[in-house]
Amino acid sequence: MFDKLETLDDLFEMQLKDLYSAEKQLVKALPLMAETAKDGRLRRGFEKHLRETENQVARLEKIGKALDLDLSGHTCKAMEGLIAEGQETMSENATEEVMDAALIAAAQRIEHYEISGYGTAAHFAQRLGHTDAAELLQQTLDEEQLTDTKLNDLAKNYLNAKAE
Ligand SMILES: [Fe+2]
Ligand SMILES: [Fe+2]
Repeated sequence: MFDKLETLDDLFEMQLKDLYSAEKQLVKALPLMAETAKDGRLRRGFEKHLRETENQVARLEKIGKALDLDLSGHTCKAMEGLIAEGQETMSENATEEVMDAALIAAAQRIEHYEISGYGTAAHFAQRLGHTDAAELLQQTLDEEQLTDTKLNDLAKNYLNAKAE
């Protein structure tokens, strides 16, 4: 799939391709998660993150253009799996509250995966002297972390109590 990985630059490119595929898959998956969420705050949270995710795709495209890298043609299998598990959950027969709690659980797994990926990519960009790319990756990392915090708050303060 990838040519030989010889330098940190090669690995950085690989990481970017993986993130690009992950985000594009998420843009397709988030509308159904939003539709399935019964709690208004959760639904609006997913809708907001869909718009952020579209912008995250655009950031990666901007980085690809600036560094003359083609980020297409790779599939992030981890995100495929995370989304497949989420879809499996959504097909379960659950009460509204339990379904919302399950959606949060699935979404947090996804956010943690992204946080890990962007943390690595931002660090590599920094090390390689790609300052603009590092800044863009950090912006996305901040959004993913904020999304995770919001999901956590929703789960702790409201949904888990309702699902008991
Ligand atoms: Fe993302
Ligand atoms: Fe995300």
